[in-house]
Amino acid sequence: MLRQQDVGYRIVVRRIVGIREGRPLFSDALGELVELSETHLTLSTAQGHLRVPVAQVHRAKRVPPTRRPTAAAVVALERAADEAWPAPTRGQLGDWLLRSADGWSGRANSALPIGDPDRPLPAAVDAVERWYAEQGQPPIINTPLPLAAPVGAELDARGWAARPPVLVQTTPLPLRPPGSASAARSTTEQPSAVGQTGAVGQTGAVGQTGAWSSAVVELASAPSAAWLAVAAGRKGGLPDAARHVLTAVDLVRFAHVYVDGTLVAVGRGTVTGQGRWLGLSLIEVLPAARRQGLAVRVIHELASWGVSSGATYAFLQVEQHNVAAVALYRRLGFSTHHTYLTRVAPH
Ligand SMILES: CC(C)(COP(=O)(O)OP(=O)(O)OC[C@H]1O[C@@H](n2cnc3c(N)ncnc32)[C@H](O)[C@@H]1OP(=O)(O)O)[C@@H](O)C(=O)NCCC(=O)NCCS
Repeated sequence: MLRQQDVGYRIVVRRIVGIREGRPLFSDALGELVELSETHLTLSTAQGHLRVPVAQVHRAKRVPPTRRPTAAAVVALERAADEAWPAPTRGQLGDWLLRSADGWSGRANSALPIGDPDRPLPAAVDAVERWYAEQGQPPIINTPLPLAAPVGAELDARGWAARPPVLVQTTPLPLRPPGSASAARSTTEQPSAVGQTGAVGQTGAVGQTGAWSSAVVELASAPSAAWLAVAAGRKGGLPDAARHVLTAVDLVRFAHVYVDGTLVAVGRGTVTGQGRWLGLSLIEVLPAARRQGLAVRVIHELASWGVSSGATYAFLQVEQHNVAAVALYRRLGFSTHHTYLTRVAPH
């Protein structure tokens, strides 16, 4: 069992969360022990604070610390990610960023509380609420954890909801070599007109000729109409602000993969953060074309372009519950740098 000396250390707690057919149901939680009393213990987990009644604890013990990134490393990566997905309407609250893009995508329409907001925390959250009211939008704050855990606690107290956790993952470049050879062509022009009628998300007989392995990954400096249709389908429409978010980055490439004239896979790569970070976004493969290695090939082509542009690391953001994508990125060598929660004000 735990003692006061364990406060401040990383622990795992096995809790009894119910009884089924006379047998206890367990759930494990991992995090830093921040408080231990006779009745409760409090853990700081990747998803925020968790208060566990001692009566529910089946077993608890210290575990070795993980190598956590420094606060400065989290801030630098969050800034590179913000540059890679630039909201057209922006404000600042001290160091905090305020971002709006006609509501297109969570990241471009949320405040980012990194650094000092130049005022007490409650006043900072009030100011965020006012700024979003002026934009005619609901207030949203993305809280990188554990960096912005105090902001999360303030939002908890105000009853703000939390969307599922997002993993911010990184890997050094170049990537590990792909298992299969890839045929790629890199251009700075619009992609060829071939297949512009088809799009990811459509179903049909595409690829039944066994053409997956010969598919070409084209990297273009601008997205095709079919590529934009994918982005619209994924993120809900395509207001003018969306084009800005997608294209207003100096170093950006749009990956297109066509098979039998249909766009079967897409991806987007950016280089930001003073040239250090390749950012990957909007990786998507037509359902009928999945598990053929196309996502791996798209990411390898974007990574090669990133390396040739000077990037030394890659990052991406993926929802924790996206099993397929998390497995894909693990296989490519990505691991979690930090997490964030998207927090939404109550109506
Ligand atoms: C995630 C996604 C892009 C993967 O595309 P894909 O072309 O099927 O992936 P690949 O064929 O290159 O898969 C490579 C490896 O990733 C892992 N993987 C991919 N999909 C998986 C799944 N559904 N379940 C488990 N592992 C999976 C496997 O290790 C796979 O290798 P294997 O097929 O030899 O086992 C695709 O499922 C997709 O478009 N999903 C919807 C959009 C999305 O969520 N994008 C990511 C947003 S962050």
